[in-house]
Amino acid sequence: MSDILRVTTEDRICQVLMNRPDKKNALTLEMYQGLTDAMLAADANPEVRVIMLGSTGDSFCAGNDIADFIAASSQPDAIKVPLFFLQTLASLTTPLIAVVPGAAVGIGTTILLHCDLVIASDQARFQLPFARLGLVPEGGSSLLMPQLVGHRRAFELLVLGDSFSAETASGLGLVNWVVAQDSLQAKALHEATKLAALAPEAVRQSKAMLRSHTQSQLEAVLVAEVNQFAERLTSEEAREALMAFMQKREPDFSRF
Ligand code: COA
Repeated sequence: MSDILRVTTEDRICQVLMNRPDKKNALTLEMYQGLTDAMLAADANPEVRVIMLGSTGDSFCAGNDIADFIAASSQPDAIKVPLFFLQTLASLTTPLIAVVPGAAVGIGTTILLHCDLVIASDQARFQLPFARLGLVPEGGSSLLMPQLVGHRRAFELLVLGDSFSAETASGLGLVNWVVAQDSLQAKALHEATKLAALAPEAVRQSKAMLRSHTQSQLEAVLVAEVNQFAERLTSEEAREALMAFMQKREPDFSRF
């Protein structure tokens, strides 16, 4: 695996770090594939009792790489790689802890809906700018976000798409703990170590039980969202928004 991911396993904890800090850990197809492989390997490893997903640099993840989005609009199969990553996340049997130091945008935030614990720095910012990009929600968020916060807050987050603070994320139930930046890793390791010391089968069964009520619905939603998302990527609205990002300007939807 190239250096876009760093994976280490120690004391029953597998740490997976997204490592593309100059691009705020925006996810390329190669990173999705690497994350999927790392998660599947950790989940199948009986030595691993907790998976921690974190990042290098000041951001958690700036979402899908926008240049890849533009390329994907002419390669419909490209969407299968992120879908397999999401399906893997949603079906992990090992507890997953996210460690969020800074920006978590798009799938950088929807990933969190699949985590069992989320620890964020007080510097973290969250954003779901799907409609702003001419796109629709992904990552199971059209199901999981209304379940978490109700329709109106979900609409606000997923459609208006303003960024929000770690404090707000905690109030919404998206984040368990908000801590100072310099104690983020220590707090995450502390919680991971506690979890890794618990009876492993009881933990796995508890996770499965909590997830079981929505699992089959979630699997169907992930596929439906990705198909609609892929269709939106080919739209003029999305083209305008994505080009605007690349050209560092505001999109103009007035002609639609
Ligand atoms: N895809 C591709 N490149 C991205 C990216 C993304 N999703 N997010 C950030 N980058 C790149 C920027 O283009 C910039 O590249 P450059 O240095 O070559 O110009 C670099 O990462 C740093 O980003 P910048 O915007 O300058 O940093 P910032 O600290 O001001 O803001 C973010 C950080 C994450 C808030 C901001 O980059 C952002 O909003 N990114 C877009 C997120 C997005 O819309 N994702 C898709 C969601 S569906």
